[in-house]
Amino acid sequence: MKQLAILTVLLGSALIALSIGEPESKEKWVAPAAEAGKKNPVAANESSLAAGQKVYLQRCAGCHGKTGKGDGPDAADLGIHPAKLSDAAVQQQTDGELFWKITVGKKPMPNYRTRLSPTDRWNAINYLRTLARK
Ligand code: HEC
Repeated sequence: MKQLAILTVLLGSALIALSIGEPESKEKWVAPAAEAGKKNPVAANESSLAAGQKVYLQRCAGCHGKTGKGDGPDAADLGIHPAKLSDAAVQQQTDGELFWKITVGKKPMPNYRTRLSPTDRWNAINYLRTLARK
């Protein structure tokens, strides 16, 4: 009987430990198809790239690193690696997919739905394209 009580307690704490973890961060992050098809309305001209670079260095580089290698100064404390934005796995995604991810965020990455205007999110994406494999 005593063993059963101990077993129940152990099982209970194991379940609690499991539910506290964040299993969703281990799954692949995929944007809904309708969002993936969204076209970037902002041309990647000089002024968009300059604005995008400003946004990126202020808001994103702390985690994703200046050149998008996921090695920003804040990355070490996250307990999860920020995506390497310069990698093919990110670069091959559509602008629509990246826009959706930046808009909704995913713990520990903040969402930018209200923190950045849509234009600034597209500017940041235009800038992200310049980080490919640098
Ligand atoms: C607090 C740290 C942090 C900040 C700030 C941050 N990110 Fe992230 N970002 C992450 C982490 C961690 C992930 C990985 C999330 C996952 O896959 O579970 C991620 C994922 C992403 C992805 C998806 C990559 C993929 O694998 O599909 C994109 C795109 C992205 N970030 C862009 C940005 C942009 C643009 C900014 C600035 C506007 C930004 N992030 C700011 C931490 C951050």
